[in-house]
Amino acid sequence: MISERAAFERALKEAALGRGDVEPNPLVGAVAVEDGRLVGVGHHADYGGAHAEVALLEALGGSLTGRTVFVTLEPCSHQGKTPPCADALVAAQPDRVVVLTEDPNPAVAGRGIARLRAAGIETVVSEDAELRQRERTLNAAYYVHRDRDRAWVIAKWAMTLDGKIASRTGDARWISSESSRREVHRLRAHVDAVMVGVGTALRDDPRLTPRDVELVRRPVRIVLDSRGRLTESARLFEDVERFPVWIATTERAPANWRRAMESRGATVIEEPARNGRVDLAAALVELRRRGCERVLLEGGAELFASGFEEELIDAVEVYVCPRLVGGREAPTPWPGSGRASMAEALTLEHLRWDHLENDQRLRAFVHSPRVGGGPFKRPAERA
Ligand SMILES: NC(=O)c1ccc[n+]([C@@H]2O[C@H](COP(=O)([O-])OP(=O)(O)OC[C@H]3O[C@@H](n4cnc5c(N)ncnc54)[C@H](OP(=O)(O)O)[C@@H]3O)[C@@H](O)[C@H]2O)c1
Repeated sequence: MISERAAFERALKEAALGRGDVEPNPLVGAVAVEDGRLVGVGHHADYGGAHAEVALLEALGGSLTGRTVFVTLEPCSHQGKTPPCADALVAAQPDRVVVLTEDPNPAVAGRGIARLRAAGIETVVSEDAELRQRERTLNAAYYVHRDRDRAWVIAKWAMTLDGKIASRTGDARWISSESSRREVHRLRAHVDAVMVGVGTALRDDPRLTPRDVELVRRPVRIVLDSRGRLTESARLFEDVERFPVWIATTERAPANWRRAMESRGATVIEEPARNGRVDLAAALVELRRRGCERVLLEGGAELFASGFEEELIDAVEVYVCPRLVGGREAPTPWPGSGRASMAEALTLEHLRWDHLENDQRLRAFVHSPRVGGGPFKRPAERA
């Protein structure tokens, strides 16, 4: 006979499997129990993809009759990137639903539980304080992100073993293996926006589209270009109908350049300036306002430097590749003055390392000693 505690312990374990792939969404796990036996598990595995309850339903062929569902977070009741899970549960008719924690998201906040009860499904909230606290800790990034106004930011780069993201002439094609580059396409298909500085747009002329992968999201491509340097011939414009191009600029950009960009299909967004350049923090607030929750920074060096200096990077995905290119002028992922001591260094937590051909990939969250943690800091604690 599986106890409520054991069922939730398993559901929390399932939830944790989504770490690094779902943020800023919450990590959620669900299990189904029938006659005291565990009969199915599910978790939210991908940002924009199926929620835990739906994954559980898929694992069980759609029916929950005669079963109790234990779910670590209240089922959603609103149409988000996927349909409401409360409705999916109602349709599958479980005997009982036990929820570990209520969702503080104002779009849910008790409505998921109310919807289940209104449909006649016995629904209770767990009173196990210790397990409820474990869920709060597991989803610290979610609870904090909810309270702040900017998008969640992942910085991704490939570097040589000597820490260079390009040679001294700016050549970066290619540092990483084909398998690593395929993974980058997969990552692009799981974000709302891919962002580069205009330096990278001019030097590499990238398309920044997800290619040869299933599209979970359809990312907008964004260039930070304070003075209007992007040209009409940029390859970014090739796919502008399918993957919109937004250019974040400042008042310094000339009106005729703005018109030229708009005639190529781009949306030009004027942002406040910080030190003469687009204010990255303000741009990330604006992006969230426009519906971009998850933003991938793809470089280059100057853009990463702003992100790290201003502590706007929540997570990193780094490919460390077996090459050495040397050179004092060759860019690193954080040029500029950096931090003065190791005590002030940003540190990484929840590390996940894996191999792709001969590359090593690290996925991790950024933690700042100054404010007590990147994704985990409270807005009030920010400088
Ligand atoms: N290995 C990798 O993963 C990787 C990835 C990407 C790029 N790269 C390499 O990186 C090199 C380009 O790097 P980069 O440092 O020259 O260019 P960058 O970071 O792509 O672009 C920097 C430019 O963006 C504009 N910008 C606007 N707002 C900004 C802000 N808030 N913070 C920073 N920049 C802002 C500035 O120009 P304005 O003032 O004119 O607006 C700035 O000079 C290339 O060699 C490329 O191959 C490597």
